[in-house]
Amino acid sequence: MSAQSDLIHIFNGVPFTTKSSATLLRSLNNFQARDDDLLLVSYPKSGTHWLAEILRQLYNTKAPNKVSITSPIEFGDVGKLEELKSIAGRRIIPTHLSYDMIPSDFKDRKCKAIYIIRNPKDTAVSLFHYYKDNPNLPTIESWHAFYNMFLNGQVVCGSWFEHILGWEEHRNEMSTLFLYYEAMKKDLPKSVRKISSFLGINLSDNEISEICKKTSFGEMKTNVERENSDPNSTVCALTTNKKLIFRKGTVGDWKQYFTPKQNRLLDEEYKAKMDSSCLAKSIVY
Ligand code: A3P
Repeated sequence: MSAQSDLIHIFNGVPFTTKSSATLLRSLNNFQARDDDLLLVSYPKSGTHWLAEILRQLYNTKAPNKVSITSPIEFGDVGKLEELKSIAGRRIIPTHLSYDMIPSDFKDRKCKAIYIIRNPKDTAVSLFHYYKDNPNLPTIESWHAFYNMFLNGQVVCGSWFEHILGWEEHRNEMSTLFLYYEAMKKDLPKSVRKISSFLGINLSDNEISEICKKTSFGEMKTNVERENSDPNSTVCALTTNKKLIFRKGTVGDWKQYFTPKQNRLLDEEYKAKMDSSCLAKSIVY
């Protein structure tokens, strides 16, 4: 096996980085959830860090230091489950796992989950840059090569389509709120209101506007670039490659990358796969 392919292993047919050990992935089903656990679900590069910071700010406004945002449940080794067990207070647990790999105890308890969706074209471009800049991921020859990998679901966490459709299919088995990156960009206060009502937290207009200010792209990027960035920030919990996360934070960057043919092929795939999806009505495509 080449050093490159050593960076990825396949579990349940899905590519994972070595950050997720096969032993941990195998043992996830023994995970004991709690009724008040909140899952923060996303396909990679959909705005996970943004949403996590919104949640942190939202809880801190009402009950400072009462919630912990953990690293993604699938990152780590066997000790991970013990580490999560030792957390007192409410846990917000991020994950990129497909629905069928989520520990069944979350489902049995009907825990709440928030799933953030981003347009697949911008997601692909963002993931392309993440691969390029991240030494823990295989080297990518070109945008063209990466595009084919993305379209065929051969990137970390597999197919964008399968991920979303799997979570949509089971949307009523847990209590799931779907959010949209583009809608958040357009009207963040509206999305924050949606989140707070889903979580049963009352916020004043002033509190909402404070949260929006603190979680703007510029504010979050500057905070991460500061030498002494807040050690409690969710960015620290979620990633070791903090500076790779805040690239552009825009909608429509894909237009700089997609050739007309690539655009047509993805449109065809989208139509074929998402035609019967209810979520597709809300995805800005
Ligand atoms: P780009 O690469 O297009 O800039 P994730 O957190 O799931 O890894 O997603 C990362 C993407 O979300 C990056 O997209 C990043 O810039 C964007 N992002 C992070 N914080 C954001 C914010 N506060 N507002 C808008 N986009 C943000």
